[in-house]
Amino acid sequence: MTSPRSFPAGFVWGAATAAYQIEGAVSEDGRGPSIWDTFSHTPGKTVHGDTGDVACDHYHRVRSDVALMSELGLPSYRFSIAWPRVLPTGGGPVNQPGLDFYSQLVDMLLEHDIEPLATLYHWDLPQPLQDAGGWTVRDTALRFAEYAELVGRALGDRIPTLTTLNEPWCSAYLGHATGVHAPGGTDAAAAYAAVHHLNLAHGLAASALRTVLPGGARISLTLNLVQARPASSSAEDVDATRHVDGISNRIFLDPVFHGSYPADVLDDLGDVTDFGFVQDGDLAAISAPLDVLGVNYYSPRVIAAPSDDNLASGQPFPATSRAVALPQPGPYTAMGWPIDPAGLTELLVRLSRDLPDVPLMITENGAAFEDAVSADGAVHDDDRIAYLRGHLGATLDAIAQGADVRGYYAWSLMDNFEWAEGYAKRFGLVRVDYDTQQRIVKDSARWYSRVIAANALSG
Ligand code: FCB
Repeated sequence: MTSPRSFPAGFVWGAATAAYQIEGAVSEDGRGPSIWDTFSHTPGKTVHGDTGDVACDHYHRVRSDVALMSELGLPSYRFSIAWPRVLPTGGGPVNQPGLDFYSQLVDMLLEHDIEPLATLYHWDLPQPLQDAGGWTVRDTALRFAEYAELVGRALGDRIPTLTTLNEPWCSAYLGHATGVHAPGGTDAAAAYAAVHHLNLAHGLAASALRTVLPGGARISLTLNLVQARPASSSAEDVDATRHVDGISNRIFLDPVFHGSYPADVLDDLGDVTDFGFVQDGDLAAISAPLDVLGVNYYSPRVIAAPSDDNLASGQPFPATSRAVALPQPGPYTAMGWPIDPAGLTELLVRLSRDLPDVPLMITENGAAFEDAVSADGAVHDDDRIAYLRGHLGATLDAIAQGADVRGYYAWSLMDNFEWAEGYAKRFGLVRVDYDTQQRIVKDSARWYSRVIAANALSG
């Protein structure tokens, strides 16, 4: 046994969820429909036609779920607020019962000494805003800033960190280019308009929040940055990797932190879009000051320039014809995602080099496995423990190399509706029996509790 490896003092530990993935109660207390209600109810869009109608029934079980978090010793909880619960049509008058749900959740967390971290947008756009063009139109960004201000005013005194968007990469590209997420669009040009309007939404919301939040409150943005490695040292593969880094990472990071879109990205995309959706003042708005960058990491990508051969085995990278993501060696999670903790170290070290003054927070990391309930009634998910151990070790490696990582949220607190994969993929530290809604604490949750209590990884 080697000696334990400690995390920095004050390191924030938590688990994460998102509203549509756990709440259910989709038409209760005035909640309006979101694009995920529409999408999941469209035949063929999710595995087994699963929807979030009931999910983990968290809306009705919030009290016992918070008690469970407390029993697990979680110091923090990252959840998202459903825009269509608070503003059923995206704008207009507030739906007080919807807002009250989150207000009560925050109070329950604080009563248990659990620090709330709330995300304002985890993909559940109010359907009426989609009907008016969704993220492809500018107005959605303006509506988002109003919604953010409203939530900031109502709850901001009790939530130390508010995140504007979760993974705009997914909203833009999976939602508008590949069509595997809501709203299911398949037009690359629309995806880039969505990128810009999501960036704008973030910036306008960050400024609006700043005016209503107490001093000391933190504003953040969570990105799923792509740790892209070239398949070979050929000039073509290296350039395809630069391109993927541009359209996946720098297209968000540069406007947010430097107030401009990267020149190589504008150049690369000349045959897709002219960026005519960028108006005067937008980049200044997008680069509003930010306190924390949230990083979600699951696995890296290996990128090559397209060829007949690799297009047969690999997958075209979303929203571009210039890059292919190649298959990678295992081991894999149940999602088929390669397990590669070193990619997390590389990503964190790169971010700390590129953005030396920006504190980082790992807002999601975790894995789906084929969990089973054993004869003893427990879930012995040693593979998840190994995954978490590997990635926490990778986080320590990055910290040792100078990365300013302030905390870690495991994805996810409990098994839930995994978007297009429905309920087939289980990411939870806690198992959910979807027939009875019984929660079973998995071995990984007990292990994670011990790591949290020690603020260290045992050897
Ligand atoms: C991320 C999402 C999260 C969850 C994990 C597995 O992309 O933010 O909601 O689905 O993947």
